Amino acid sequence: MKRIYVREMQPADLPSVHEIDRQAFSMPWPPDAYRHEIEDEHSFPVVAVAEGEIIGVGVLWLVLDEAHIATIAVRPEWRGRGVGRLILGRLLEIAREQNARLATLEVRVGNYAAQALYRSFGFELVGWRPRYYSDNREDALIMTLRFV
Ligand SMILES: CC(C)(COP(=O)(O)OP(=O)(O)OC[C@H]1O[C@@H](n2cnc3c(N)ncnc32)[C@H](O)[C@@H]1OP(=O)(O)O)[C@@H](O)C(=O)NCCC(=O)NCCS
Repeated sequence: MKRIYVREMQPADLPSVHEIDRQAFSMPWPPDAYRHEIEDEHSFPVVAVAEGEIIGVGVLWLVLDEAHIATIAVRPEWRGRGVGRLILGRLLEIAREQNARLATLEVRVGNYAAQALYRSFGFELVGWRPRYYSDNREDALIMTLRFV
């Protein structure tokens, strides 16, 4: 397998990051959103890289002692090869480095791949937000991982 690593997001990554975001989500973030993530001291945006190409993105927000997985996405042709696991692992490492007490996230009720990824890291279902997503009024599950 090609060498894949995760590093901090940089301004030069933004075109690739937005492309991955648009490919992955029916409601992509607005054009300036990731630039703001890079500038925001409470946000920890990362990218996954393979041979100089950006193949995945992830963003962690830190609010007091709670870490929030704000987004995670992998280029479609790179999915199912451990990249999502690598990104989430790095985000959780950052959360621990920042002394977070827990990590939390929302995920579409029909997004089984993402839920399986989160469960494999120990995230547990803690709540349900009915009709959370405005595009199709899909429910969101709230999942949490407590650090010990
Ligand atoms: C969710 C996503 C980030 C996973 O990335 P990925 O690189 O494909 O995931 P990995 O290859 O690292 O897989 C890690 C684990 O996730 C789960 N998983 C990944 N794809 C899966 C699928 N299609 N079906 C079921 N489980 C899946 C498995 O538990 C897998 O572990 P395993 O390989 O040991 O079975 C990717 O599918 C994606 O970008 N989806 C679109 C964006 C999205 O939905 N993001 C999450 C928003 S909450």
